[in-house]
Amino acid sequence: MSTISNHLKVEHLEVRYGDLVGIADVSIEVQMGSVVALLGSNGAGKTTTLNAIAGLVQSSQGSIQWQGEHIASQPAYAIVRKGIALAPEGWHLFTQQTVEQNLMLGTTSLVDKKRVPELMEQVFSYFPRLKERRRQRAGTLSGGERQMLAVGRALMSAPKILLLDEPSLGLAPAIVETMYETLSELHAAGLTLLIAEQSVQLALEVADYAYVLQTGKTVLEGTAEALSNDEQVRQIYLGITDATQ
Ligand SMILES: Nc1ncnc2c1ncn2[C@@H]1O[C@H](COP(=O)(O)OP(=O)(O)O)[C@@H](O)[C@H]1O
Ligand SMILES: [Mg+2]
Repeated sequence: MSTISNHLKVEHLEVRYGDLVGIADVSIEVQMGSVVALLGSNGAGKTTTLNAIAGLVQSSQGSIQWQGEHIASQPAYAIVRKGIALAPEGWHLFTQQTVEQNLMLGTTSLVDKKRVPELMEQVFSYFPRLKERRRQRAGTLSGGERQMLAVGRALMSAPKILLLDEPSLGLAPAIVETMYETLSELHAAGLTLLIAEQSVQLALEVADYAYVLQTGKTVLEGTAEALSNDEQVRQIYLGITDATQ
């Protein structure tokens, strides 16, 4: 009898860019229903890891399992169809197209097209700003609104897991806070989240579990609570120093 493994499991993953190593040895596991943070400084391999899971870059070693199936060699459109969506770093929006048109791009691999209006309404309920601006070109949006649109487009594929690549990058603190509140709501509604972040404290606030990457390798993991509370971890791996002490 086979058991259905209800998770995303990445083991000893390696991705190369020609002669350069993007990631050397990354292992992470995301249980369904959880929020997992992928931490690490610039160049640590967060984006490469998420892009490999989403099928945007090919791995050369290791494995990616999703609900018991090996998906590492599959193309991006097939992976989206399995319920894995990515809100990428830099958003990758079509700036000449409207908010609505960009959202529609998220439905390309959706099998049941009858769900589009319902999914669109759902995205608008999480991001009312996008509803107000739905006929505007994406190029006229603020940074925060573009990030909302990138997340909204990912949600349009009706994912089971949402991969977020630095959702706070370049946004004003108030906007970041709103974004994270929405991510918490999405999680409360049942969505599994894997969030790559350089803003460590923020990510640890919403995450259950976290992994730390350094030069392409997983070097540390633990519950968000344990990592936040360990002074050595905070200083050495997360670069947090308490100015008050
Ligand atoms: N397209 C690329 N071509 C060559 N090297 C790349 C490319 N993208 C990323 N890298 C390299 O891969 C490593 C991991 O980068 P990245 O995954 O972007 O890290 P992070 O998202 O944590 O900042 C870095 O050394 C980076 O320079
Ligand atoms: Mg990155």
